[in-house]
Amino acid sequence: MTTSVSSSQLLRQQLRQQVRCARRQLSPQQQQRAAQQLSLRLQALPQIQHSQHIALYIATDGEIDPQPFIDWLWQQEKSVYLPVLHPFSKGHLLFLHYDATTPMTTNRYHIHEPQLDLRRVKPIAELDVICTPLVAFDRTGQRLGMGGGYYDRTLSQWHQHRQGPYPIGIGHDCQYISQLPNEKWDVPLPLIITPNHQFIEA
Ligand SMILES: Nc1ncnc2c1ncn2[C@@H]1O[C@H](COP(=O)(O)OP(=O)(O)OP(=O)(O)O)[C@@H](O)[C@H]1O
Ligand SMILES: [Mg+2]
Repeated sequence: MTTSVSSSQLLRQQLRQQVRCARRQLSPQQQQRAAQQLSLRLQALPQIQHSQHIALYIATDGEIDPQPFIDWLWQQEKSVYLPVLHPFSKGHLLFLHYDATTPMTTNRYHIHEPQLDLRRVKPIAELDVICTPLVAFDRTGQRLGMGGGYYDRTLSQWHQHRQGPYPIGIGHDCQYISQLPNEKWDVPLPLIITPNHQFIEA
């Protein structure tokens, strides 16, 4: 039993390394084009058009860059939020309002996040959509993240009761893996968008 658990963890770590390496190989031009194409696909989604409060992230480590989409959301006068590591509740995220003037800082994973300001915190239940970063995904909507379980915890209400923000995974096409090894706490996504494809929901 112990052996099978650890071999599954080992495989997950190997897949993370492989896909993170692949996405870091993308050139700045490929990254820019992918970000623009992703933005157009997201703009066309009814789930986005009908939403007002949308969480994104700041790209790091070769992740697809949501900034062109964030710029469009701002133009549409929709509200954008970014994750911040919870200062007391280990493994959890807070979501803070984000605009062009938001003071930013760098967290312990070297990821940019808004400076903690309780006035800007948006309760997760009041978000309409959370666009999640991911390291790898498969055709059933399963995702592998960076390994902290942050989004699995954030989306557990949605997973169990279909309550709270609707999750949309976003990534590069090269992050697709035909079948990922899953654990019981992993939250599969109902919709994943890449520059060239849409997975799961019709
Ligand atoms: N809902 C949860 N409650 C408690 N612990 C959880 C929950 N979801 C995940 N975890 C824990 O988080 C750890 C990391 O999970 P996992 O390897 O699936 O991360 P990930 O999905 O890659 O990361 P992320 O969600 O941050 O993108 C696991 O040890 C798992 O036990
Ligand atoms: Mg997980």
